[in-house]
Amino acid sequence: MATEKTHLANLVLAENPSCERNKLPILEVLKEYLNPGDHLLEIGSGGGMHALYFTQNLPVARWQMTEMPEYMEAIQARFIQQGNSQMATPLSLDCRAAHWGLPQQYDAIFSANTVHIMSWQAVCGLMNGVHKALKPEGLFLLYGPFRYNGEDTAASNTAFHEYLKNTSAEMGLRDYQEMAALAKLAGLQLIKDIPMPANNRILIFKHEQ
Ligand SMILES: C[S@@+](CC[C@H](N)C(=O)[O-])C[C@H]1O[C@@H](n2cnc3c(N)ncnc32)[C@H](O)[C@@H]1O
Repeated sequence: MATEKTHLANLVLAENPSCERNKLPILEVLKEYLNPGDHLLEIGSGGGMHALYFTQNLPVARWQMTEMPEYMEAIQARFIQQGNSQMATPLSLDCRAAHWGLPQQYDAIFSANTVHIMSWQAVCGLMNGVHKALKPEGLFLLYGPFRYNGEDTAASNTAFHEYLKNTSAEMGLRDYQEMAALAKLAGLQLIKDIPMPANNRILIFKHEQ
């Protein structure tokens, strides 16, 4: 059993090719929008690769990884084997929960490649939870592929959307306009839409009182 767990942890800690490709362009955006000493919350940290790379390259004071209860093992392994003083012990968080039970509010929240994997119910929970978890004027930076008025920006995004829909009717690329409207209802204003490589975007939302 111990050997199986070690094997799983090693697989998870192997470099994830998509994180490897997108980490540098995302870092350039985070450098512009985060401040030294910020306390940051990440939602859906996966294997924790982004957290590790960004804490090694940004002067944030604290990076709080979170993951769904059933997938905690990967980030726990990353934290135990490679964690640094900026990384906080990973927390279990499902966006659908009414109360996230976080120990504090954060200067900024980051999430990558999550909203097309979540159900729409979870995306609604995400926006409401983000509003509660952010300090006033705090920023929410959301990376991933998005559609515009139901149209994809590239054929590869259409294929990805169809693949997700065939996997689960609840998944699929989210629409920019729907995300902006949902955020507004939750008390977050969409202030920036930044084009990223491989037809991805970073949407930046600001906490409104
Ligand atoms: C494609 S992975 C992205 C992982 C990582 N952020 C990355 O960029 O490689 C999608 C992530 O969303 C998380 N996720 C899905 N539904 C969620 C929910 N309801 N609450 C929190 N996280 C969720 C999954 O557990 C998974 O870690």
